[in-house]
Amino acid sequence: MGQTVLLVGLQWGDEGKGKVIDALSERFDLVVRFQGGANAGHTIHIGQEEFILRLVPSGILHPGTLCVIANGVVVDPVALTAEMAGLRQRGVDVGENLVISDRAHVVLPHHKALDEAREAARGKDRLGTTRNGIGPCYADKASRCGIRFAEMIEPDVFHERLVAVLEINNRILTQVYGAEPVDVDAAYDEYCRYAEELKPHVQDTVMLMRQALRDGKNILLEGAQGSMLDLNFGTYPYVTSSEVVGGATVGTGIPPTRIDRVIGVVKSYCSRVGTGPFPTEQDNEIGKAIHRTIEMHGGRERGSVTGRPRRCGWLDGVVLRHTAELNGVTGLAVGMLDVLSAFETLKVCTAYKLDGRGLHSFPASLTAVERVEPVYEELEGWCCDVSDVTRWEELPPQARRYLAAVEELAGAPVEFVSVGPERKQVIEREPDG
Ligand code: GDP
Ligand code: IMO
Ligand code: MG
Repeated sequence: MGQTVLLVGLQWGDEGKGKVIDALSERFDLVVRFQGGANAGHTIHIGQEEFILRLVPSGILHPGTLCVIANGVVVDPVALTAEMAGLRQRGVDVGENLVISDRAHVVLPHHKALDEAREAARGKDRLGTTRNGIGPCYADKASRCGIRFAEMIEPDVFHERLVAVLEINNRILTQVYGAEPVDVDAAYDEYCRYAEELKPHVQDTVMLMRQALRDGKNILLEGAQGSMLDLNFGTYPYVTSSEVVGGATVGTGIPPTRIDRVIGVVKSYCSRVGTGPFPTEQDNEIGKAIHRTIEMHGGRERGSVTGRPRRCGWLDGVVLRHTAELNGVTGLAVGMLDVLSAFETLKVCTAYKLDGRGLHSFPASLTAVERVEPVYEELEGWCCDVSDVTRWEELPPQARRYLAAVEELAGAPVEFVSVGPERKQVIEREPDG
């Protein structure tokens, strides 16, 4: 009997999901993306090589793993074809091992133009999106005027739909935002070429999933973004437009009863790119020290997609409890433990105070979130390099105490610890460890 494992970020994205997925993907027959789009940037380090995957699932570097872009993903053909070409150039096989759902929605030029225009119009209140057209594409999907791969690969249907959708959206672009319209003929020709190139990869992935479950395959569901960026449960409106929480079922067609394990990926501190509240942010020497340390260790606290510096801060236990419970995590993968080696004393936020009262849940109101004061507990740091540690028992006692604090906050056991960006720098805890 195969296992279906969901892997999901428990903070604001960039928790190190790509690295953990790559380290685990040998054990899986399928690695499946189910939400988000090219806003994701999942980094994998193998020796001197760095791969940043945006739409292609993070199992692609393992020959024999079937990589699926399932129906819940919004796919930008420009980004996807460039990513595929880049991988091929570096000797990675991208052929029958990559499948795209015929139900996945296509990110079209007006989605990206609208993302730009709306951000510009918001001025200082901008959301800080990655400008990949994610929000507008999901909005078209919900408004029932989106175009899926099923339509894009049929030239006549595609033409009819594209003309209709661009007519309205060009009016919005020009009249509301004063932006340039999208040239319908040029867009049609360009996207027909992408359709031709991608058509061999397009399949009914709902049937593919069903068959994989029947055949007892091991399936890894690769969450993108993080649960605090979730459309329903994140810091709305400073979120992305997809369902990070719960999206694994609607985004693949796999029923909830068939998900066996949920691994929550946690960075041992917190980071956020873009705007929006971040209660434990350290916009000071501590934040700078995190940046310095990660760079020293070969990592980088910059958006993998946008290159923007990430805001950094202490681990937030209120966030962790909120997201671990929402996802029903059964185990944790804690990353970037090596980065905390730089600190003699570590702080962990265990609760918030709002108007002098203790608050143990994450509030919906952003004005409340902006006013909360984190309550910190201090833990002793380990102050030594852990990046070569390969076994749980070899971790310094202070590091194990820190991980025990993470477990208590999340209410789930730590199963994996990442101590560096490299594929091999991962500690798997034995069940009795
Ligand atoms: P993802 O979006 O969750 O896959 O994470 P990103 O790839 O956007 O960001 C994580 C960054 O940290 C990348 O530069 C990784 O190479 C790096 N990284 C991942 N795990 C570790 C770790 O355990 N230690 C260090 N120092 N860097 C890591
Ligand atoms: P991975 O999968 C970190 C953030 C953006 C912005 C907000 C909305 O690499 O963890 P969007 O373009 O989605 O409309 O932007 O969400 N964001 C991410 N932050 N990691 C990501 O993905 C992100 N994907 C989107 O910075 O604040
Ligand atoms: Mg990322």
